[in-house]
Amino acid sequence: GSLVSQQCLCFYYLCVLIQQSWSTDLSFPPNFKFGAATAAYQVEGGWNADGKGMNIWDRYVHEYPDDIRNRSTGDVAADSYHQWRQDVKAAAQMRLQTYRFSINWVRILPSGFTNEINKAGAQYYSDLIDALLAEGIEPIVTLFHWDLPVKIQDLGGWTNPLIVKWFGDYARVVYTLYSSRVRTWLTMNEPVAVCDYYYNSERFPPRVKESMYAPYLCNKYIMLAHANAYRIFEREFKPSCPGRISLANNVLWIEPFSPNDTELAELGRQYQTGRYSHPIFSKQGGWPPLVEKFMLELSLKQGFAESRLPPFTAEEIEFMKGTADFYGINFYTTSLIRPSKPKEEPGLWFITGSPELNAMLEPPPNAYYGALSILPVTPESMRKQFKWLTQQYGDIEILVTENGYSTFGHQLDDYDRADFIKEHLEQVLLSIKVDNINVTGYLVWSLIDNFEWLDGYRAKFGLYEVDFDHPNRTRTPRFSANYYACVIAERSLDV
Ligand code: NOJ
Repeated sequence: GSLVSQQCLCFYYLCVLIQQSWSTDLSFPPNFKFGAATAAYQVEGGWNADGKGMNIWDRYVHEYPDDIRNRSTGDVAADSYHQWRQDVKAAAQMRLQTYRFSINWVRILPSGFTNEINKAGAQYYSDLIDALLAEGIEPIVTLFHWDLPVKIQDLGGWTNPLIVKWFGDYARVVYTLYSSRVRTWLTMNEPVAVCDYYYNSERFPPRVKESMYAPYLCNKYIMLAHANAYRIFEREFKPSCPGRISLANNVLWIEPFSPNDTELAELGRQYQTGRYSHPIFSKQGGWPPLVEKFMLELSLKQGFAESRLPPFTAEEIEFMKGTADFYGINFYTTSLIRPSKPKEEPGLWFITGSPELNAMLEPPPNAYYGALSILPVTPESMRKQFKWLTQQYGDIEILVTENGYSTFGHQLDDYDRADFIKEHLEQVLLSIKVDNINVTGYLVWSLIDNFEWLDGYRAKFGLYEVDFDHPNRTRTPRFSANYYACVIAERSLDV
């Protein structure tokens, strides 16, 4: 009996200790980095400037203007192609330590291939990088944020195995230009959206609905293309200059709707997150076993002789394994999963549920929504997500490559965005201090208001408001920008 009570007492003191250290210490570890993010098509504009080629978004917004809210386009957007000094100034005003932006493939390689390098495009990113470094802001560069060259899409895009080489060739050009100045790289942004969403819907470029095969082929080749870009860097550039590479995965925390849905929830997580993580981060490599089994059974039931999930060869599995130096996570969504009811239309899966899983996703109670109602989220679930990732893939370093909240219209007093950021940073601190998880940075989506894909300019994600009616697209800090600057200055939530 006394042993038990001693243990209880010990446990009690431990709890008090943790609580005390938690309630008094809201500071971030010295290596933790604060930043913000954007993506080329969403901010740059200059869609046909200075020899730039055409990507699938340039083509799509002109061919299908009615698909996009208010027939908006990214032709001018926040005009960062010309107004980038304002972006650097905004980042510097908040004293961001990092700024994540993406490279528009066809700005550097107009055809998508290496036959021609567009000097003006290469110069644009070079100037941006120099200006950031001059302000002490570390650039984080994404190679692909959805703007595929049309010439590559017209050869099948991510479903063509040759894209593994083409992407590698593009990556090599970019590394050659900037690897002496850039230390952190992301190859892909949200491959799950590219494959499972874009190759499975009649909206969004490239407007193919080939759900029986396209998402899975895309999944395979986008993983291999990522790995190829990693290997090229490792072999040809790392020996002369250090650098770290990963990808930014959209990870949606899935919980069971009822206790009966526990297994479905794990299948959902492996299907949504595992297919884009397991080949790279797990010890065994390859597809997540749960998904492999599920896809084989489903395919046989559908009358196919083999699984519709394309297999990897043993060499491919080795090639992809370990091709990331940290885990990049875009975190926006929490869902409860349950089996679909008869005749329930799952729609675009990563929002409403997967037609393959025959499952529906419901929003959790007490969620944050913002202007984009497709993204319900509870901050606590981010901590659960980190735990799941470390359970799955071991003691990995995690970088939050995106997290953000959208508001409507002209609104500088965005107290809700500041709360949203604070509540997520609280979860980051709990993960670091209580769960011992190695979270090393947090990037707000977004530095400035921008083109929110099909939603046009309605949903505003910026710490800085952009005046889209002004010829210079002037940027103005919102309340949240001042709040974030204060957190960064104090390196603490105790502000
Ligand atoms: C994630 C995407 O990477 C980004 O492009 C998008 O704007 C945000 N989600 C908000 O929807």
